[in-house]
Amino acid sequence: MNVKQKLNNFANWFNNKLENHLKTGTPQKLFDAMHYSLTAGGKRIRPFLMFESAKICGATETEKFLDIAIAIEMIHTYSLIHDDLPSMDNDDLRRGKPTCHKVFGEAIAILAGDGLLTYAFEKISSSQLQAEKLIKVIKTLARNTGINGMVAGQAGDILAEKEGSFNDIQFIHENKTTKFIQACCEIGAILADATDKEINALKEYGYNIGMAFQIWDDVLDVIGDTEKLGKTTGKDIQQNKLTYPAIYGLEKSKKIAKSHVEKAIESISIFKNNETLTQLAKFIIQREV
Ligand code: IPE
Ligand code: IPE
Ligand code: MG
Ligand code: MG
Ligand code: MG
Repeated sequence: MNVKQKLNNFANWFNNKLENHLKTGTPQKLFDAMHYSLTAGGKRIRPFLMFESAKICGATETEKFLDIAIAIEMIHTYSLIHDDLPSMDNDDLRRGKPTCHKVFGEAIAILAGDGLLTYAFEKISSSQLQAEKLIKVIKTLARNTGINGMVAGQAGDILAEKEGSFNDIQFIHENKTTKFIQACCEIGAILADATDKEINALKEYGYNIGMAFQIWDDVLDVIGDTEKLGKTTGKDIQQNKLTYPAIYGLEKSKKIAKSHVEKAIESISIFKNNETLTQLAKFIIQREV
């Protein structure tokens, strides 16, 4: 089975588990909005990475980590809802469907994002894992998706676009996307009680596939297909976004992404069963979605 099929199978399994979350509540419209975005599709690459990182470190019976994986996907979905808002990237299409604010209005979309983010941490803290491990997971996730991670990167992205007052593309990409992806790998290792050497190898892997992932996302905005991607292409140039293709051009961007993939593969050479994560790294710069 190739990694694309593995990821598809995983997504089907994971979507089933996710389906019943945040379905009903008061006000129902808030829950409808959260549920709509959470179940709209998506590659589910972050939870997949968490499980595969745990497995490569020797974890078995990984289903007990499901709450953490669900929380990760909730945080990711919140980031997409907010990223698409009129005051941010102003996008109408996400995961092949109208964006959350298009369907439910801007105020409910903002609150749906807030709700997913906060509930993610409630979900993690009520998981049955050992307390010390849970705190490590919470810290890793919060550190990398908050003000020293994704939120900072998104702020840099917006300031670069709208004010021209920020121009560090490396900072933007590392923070808005890479650190979260890296955290998913690190969390998998933590859950598996990995050694420091294994954790560091997976952090190195996560960093490099994270960079490749966002560079390739920028590339797809130029050469990709709206229908396949499920989001409108050509927006980055139109909005003057600071992207790799804008700075380095398409060919050099592809080369940089490829060198990150090579580094990622090298960094997991210490593991015996590294086939899935090796294939996944390659898939990141082959994908059309
Ligand atoms: C989109 O992430 C946002 C970026 C960080 C580029 P994904 O490409 O993982 O989106 P889904 O979850 O598959 O929709
Ligand atoms: C988004 O980067 C990163 C996030 C943290 C959501 P983009 O703005 O390029 O993501 P897409 O292209 O809208 O998915
Ligand atoms: Mg954005
Ligand atoms: Mg966007
Ligand atoms: Mg993009």
